[in-house]
Amino acid sequence: MSGSHGHRRSPAGEAGGARAAPGADGDALAGFGLLGRSPAFIAATNLMRRFAQTSAHVLVQGETGTGKELVARAIHYLGDRRYKPFVPVNCGALPDNLMENELFGHARGAFTDARESQRGLIGGAEGGTLFLDEIECLSLKGQVALLRFLQDGHYRQLGGHGDLRADVRVIAASNQDFGELVRSGRFRQDLYYRLAIMAVDLPPLRRRGNDILLLIDHFLARFAREYGHPAPRLDAASVPVALAHPWPGNVRELENVVHRQFLLAEGDVVRLDAPIESPGAAAGGEAGSGWNIDFSGMDMKLAKAEVIARFERDYLEQAIALTRGNVSLAAQHAGKERRAFGKLLKKYGIDRNRFQV
Ligand SMILES: Nc1ncnc2c1ncn2[C@@H]1O[C@H](COP(=O)(O)OP(=O)(O)OP(=O)(O)O)[C@@H](O)[C@H]1O
Ligand SMILES: [Mg+2]
Repeated sequence: MSGSHGHRRSPAGEAGGARAAPGADGDALAGFGLLGRSPAFIAATNLMRRFAQTSAHVLVQGETGTGKELVARAIHYLGDRRYKPFVPVNCGALPDNLMENELFGHARGAFTDARESQRGLIGGAEGGTLFLDEIECLSLKGQVALLRFLQDGHYRQLGGHGDLRADVRVIAASNQDFGELVRSGRFRQDLYYRLAIMAVDLPPLRRRGNDILLLIDHFLARFAREYGHPAPRLDAASVPVALAHPWPGNVRELENVVHRQFLLAEGDVVRLDAPIESPGAAAGGEAGSGWNIDFSGMDMKLAKAEVIARFERDYLEQAIALTRGNVSLAAQHAGKERRAFGKLLKKYGIDRNRFQV
């Protein structure tokens, strides 16, 4: 689970946040924090700019750390809705029923505590953009309601009788393979088809060639500014190392690696030694699949057990983090008995208290 992505909401949105006009050079999107000159990146951002000129709903796809959130913001701030709210919401951050309540709001008396009706995030984004991050985490019920909203702009509050209408552009993002999600029944095919009409696919960093070097220079300059140092340069022998690294965590990983090497640098040269070890990667797989296991000397059975153990630990940690330490709920999401789930937590020494907020 991405630590930087808690459930965020800003009821007032971020209206009035038009950014500095981007320059006219090859890095025209730098004003939105989007740097890159590789053909794959330019193709994606050109599409993004064209989508920004329309009011259509958009799906932004790409591996973790490829800049999906930056792209969602750029689409909003480049378009006509820029003076209206941009409301980000992480669909993976709350259990299903709470998420539907957040999105659609509830009518007075919808449940015991609902003494007042509450306008949901869709209502709060009126005229602007709702950014649904980790869209694949939306419950099947929520997916039905969202599809309806995408089709005709109508939705219903929890416990509400009449339909409400909102003029809201939806930008959804995901780092998952929808083919797989649809096949396994976790994501509705009709919703996927509806969203995929306008889809931007952000390329992984390893397919962006020299953008890797451009981004290293950019982050070195930024850290130098932030720490009040003169800007260091990348050691020449580190260039092939940077270009060969697969960057499973993409730009976020690169930013973290550069930050660490910047702090460790002696003099004005920053080095990257092969193999690049990513800060945090060993602590629980932010990318989910970036396990770097050395199988040498293991027989296949042992290797398999090792992979399963790592998967189980990551899965459990993410499940318990998602429910903020609520074991019953995490077990329910995982489709396991609470007792069995509790046993697994114990087996891996995962302390649920660490995840309570
Ligand atoms: N093209 C880019 N140029 C400069 N910085 C970038 C670029 N793309 C991403 N970043 C930086 O990388 C980090 C990750 O970007 P962002 O949060 O948009 O990724 P994401 O695709 O939403 O990731 P996740 O799937 O994990 O939520 C941010 O710090 C962002 O500023
Ligand atoms: Mg994101």
